[in-house]
Order: sequence, then C-alpha cells, then structure tokens
Amino acid sequence: MDDLKAKYLAQIADAGDEAALETIRVSAVGKKGEVALKMRELGKMTPEERQVAGPALNALKDEINSALAAKKAALADAALDARLRTEWLDVTLPTRPTRTGTLHPISQASEELTAIFAELGFSVAEGPRIDTDWYNFDALNIPGHHPARAEMDTFYMHRAEGDDRPPHVLRTHTSPVQIRSMEKMGAPLRIICPGGVYRADYDQTHTPMFHQVEGLALDKNISMANLKWVLEEFVKSFFEIDDVELRFRASHFPFTEPSAEVDIRCSWKDGTLKIGEGDDWLEILGSGMVHPKVIAAGGIDPDVYQGFAFGIGIDRLAMLKYGIPDLRAFFDSDLRWLRHYGFQCLDVPTLHGGLSR
Ligand code: PHE
Repeated sequence: MDDLKAKYLAQIADAGDEAALETIRVSAVGKKGEVALKMRELGKMTPEERQVAGPALNALKDEINSALAAKKAALADAALDARLRTEWLDVTLPTRPTRTGTLHPISQASEELTAIFAELGFSVAEGPRIDTDWYNFDALNIPGHHPARAEMDTFYMHRAEGDDRPPHVLRTHTSPVQIRSMEKMGAPLRIICPGGVYRADYDQTHTPMFHQVEGLALDKNISMANLKWVLEEFVKSFFEIDDVELRFRASHFPFTEPSAEVDIRCSWKDGTLKIGEGDDWLEILGSGMVHPKVIAAGGIDPDVYQGFAFGIGIDRLAMLKYGIPDLRAFFDSDLRWLRHYGFQCLDVPTLHGGLSR
C-alpha cells in the first residue's frame, strides 16, 4: 500500500495538465483502478486482517483523491496566472484621443450652406476647375476683348506651340457651371455649385485659390424679388441671427442684367472680425437676373425662361461666421489653427439639428 501511495502521489505531482490527471485517477481510484482491485481482495481476508486493511485502503483512496483535487486546483491557478500575464493592461496609461482630425471651417461652411439651399429646393451641381475659356468667359457674355477678362486676373494654362485645342483656364468663378447645368438639365432649374476658383490676387481678404457657391434658378416667372428673398433667407439661416444687416448695391456683371452686389455690416476692431456691428462692409456676393444671351448659350429659350443667379464667397462667409480676420490663415495648414477652428467631423449640419455649435 505504501508503494501504491508513493507511485500515485509522484505521478500526480508530475502531471502537466488535466487530461494527465484524469488518466491517473482512472488507473488509481477508478472503478477498475488499482485501489478498487485491492478492495476486492478484502473478501478473501480474515476478519482481523480486514479490520486493518479496510480502513487503510479507504484512507489511501481519500489521500489520492485529495491529491488529485489539490493538483487540479494548482493547474487551474497556473493557467489563470499565465493568462493574466498575457492580458495585462496598464490602466494608468492616458486614454487614446477620440478626435484625430477635424473638418476645415470651409468644409463646414460648405456643408452648412448646402443644407440651407437644399431646404430651399436647390440641388448640388459640379463642374471642372480647369475649364475652357468658352465656358468661363464667352458663354457668360464676356467676349475676348472684354475688360472683365483682365479684371479677373485669370490664370491661363500653358499651351505648347502649335496646340490648337481651345485655351483652358483655372476657372475664375463658379459661373461656368451655370452653362454646364443648363446644357445637362434644361429648364426649369434650381442648382447650387460650391467649389474652388482661382485668381491672381493676394491680401487679407483675397487668396489665389478661394471658394464660391454659385446659385441658378430658372423658370417661367422668376423676378428680382425672388432673388432678394432667397438671399436674405439664406443669410439669416447661415448666420443663425435674424438681424444681419445687408446692403444691396447696384453693380455690373456681363452675365446678369440688372446686377447687384451684397455686403454685410461688420467691424474689424483690434484684429477681430465681428458681424452685425461697426461701420465696415464686407462684400460677400454678386448676383442678378441671368442675361438672355447666357440663357441662350446654355441652350434654353430666353423668351420662355428667365431666372436669377448668384455667386457667394464661401471663405468670406466662414470668416464672418467664425470671426477669422485673415483669409490667408485658411490655407496656411497650421495645425494649431486647424485644431482651434476645426469642427467635429460627425456633427453633420442640418436645419433641424442645428447648423453649428
Ligand atoms: N461670378 C461672379 C464673380 O465671381 C459672381 C456672380 C455670379 C455674379 C452670378 C452674378 C451672378 O464675381
């Protein structure tokens, strides 16, 4: 019995996993194990012998069973320790930043104005940033000799000697998309086109690349009153205040007749730009009733359809709304500036949920 005990306790001590323990259990204290076989021999013994051997076998069985249970618990503890070592986590580390990027104020302003014009029934149209001078000028009633071509400080694309394709320009405004939209969709029509435009110009309120949103509405009975209402409604929604002061100024564009420019009252005190106060005016848009020649260039009969158009400076809207005094900062890619003026990218602006916070 001492041999049995020594043998099984040694095997148990050496067992590497639960399966090995189970094999030992079956051969030691299982129904047909060695201890059970010994118990069967009790019947052949004399009563005196049995009185000694019986309790001794039971004690052996108990001892092996409790060694098995202890080893099983030790194996489970070791497995848990190993797992805890690999799954260890330092909870004192700083949390991961959830915000790794932000929306540029111009993207934000574009989303906001698109939401407003969508509500007014305008859909979004697009056109190329590199366009022919026909779309950028001629179709908009600006013939080759017209001074407006020089006034716009146009960037012309380089052409190799002998290249007789039509001249291309970096579009100086989004107005060529008026023509492209008329060609594509006919009338009646209600579109806006937000996008980048280019002019050789650089100071606090001008950069060589900037953004406009073109608007065009064509139908059978559209008047200047509709234009004025849409612009006023837009400005009120965009700035989220009812008393923005607007100044409609008679102006001239070759592609509209009559034409008006619109300025917003603002102040530039101590290097900060504020809307709705002060004695300064910032021009934010040009507009007017679409010239019949332009409607005809878009393939639509100007005797049947009229309409209004406007071109708003998106960057200037963003300057005014977010109080950013220098347009050039928009394009400096200064990370500190971008983090300060950037917007959370999942805050999609809607009229019911709020445009900006
Ligand atoms: N295209 C003009 C500009 O860039 C703005 C404008 C658009 C004016 C539409 C009238 C109508 O200055």
